[in-house]
Amino acid sequence: MHRLQLAPSILTADFGRLADEVQAVAPHVDWFHLDVMDGHYVPNLTFGASTVAAVRSACDLPLHVHLMIDNPLEFAAGFAAAGANRITFHPEVTSEPKSVIEAIKEAGCGVGIAVHPDVGLELVEKYLFEVDVVLMMTVRPGFGGQSFMGEVVPKIEAARRLVDSEGARADVEVDGGIKIDNIDLVVNAGANIVVSGSGIYDGKDAPAAARRLRARLEELASSLGEAS
Ligand code: DX5
Ligand code: ZN
Repeated sequence: MHRLQLAPSILTADFGRLADEVQAVAPHVDWFHLDVMDGHYVPNLTFGASTVAAVRSACDLPLHVHLMIDNPLEFAAGFAAAGANRITFHPEVTSEPKSVIEAIKEAGCGVGIAVHPDVGLELVEKYLFEVDVVLMMTVRPGFGGQSFMGEVVPKIEAARRLVDSEGARADVEVDGGIKIDNIDLVVNAGANIVVSGSGIYDGKDAPAAARRLRARLEELASSLGEAS
């Protein structure tokens, strides 16, 4: 079992005070998860490499850039230069997922494949040994603050079984609608990295929410440890 890790998405943070928002939760989390949207792959726009660079300057934690864009091959190197440590893309946007994987690696980053709720695990299976993370989406990509799609849980379990049975080293990260009331469900399904956006940046007390999620992950890790 990998260590259970927490990755806040900054999507619903206050961008006017982004460095403060990042630094406030940094002591309680393992990664920052940065959602890049292009208005084509998804019906929303967020930010580009300059915002990734701003987060890079604000903390020392690893940064995972989740590209929800049509042309990851074109932009991967720019996000790497801005300070990304991992870059994940949706493979159905390209006829050449292998080239995107290679470009991300050449840029010096870890690679992830994202799995849209409506897409199967075939490409994950195909590239399992090339990737550092499988990002299972439990909302349709495009917006923070959506409801968790429980129907994806069996696919998370299948992704975990695939990784373990093949002896691959990829993390299984789950993204979308995760809060304190359903974090157990995704960890029990096999996630070892949990993204939470509006579950942390809720407009109230982000550090307190991050601490609560962190504490629950510690409890789950010790009960999973006892069970194994
Ligand atoms: C959705 C993004 C997610 C999401 C996380 O398109 O990829 O990372 O914003 O935010 P919450 O936890 O609010 O769903
Ligand atoms: Zn995301």
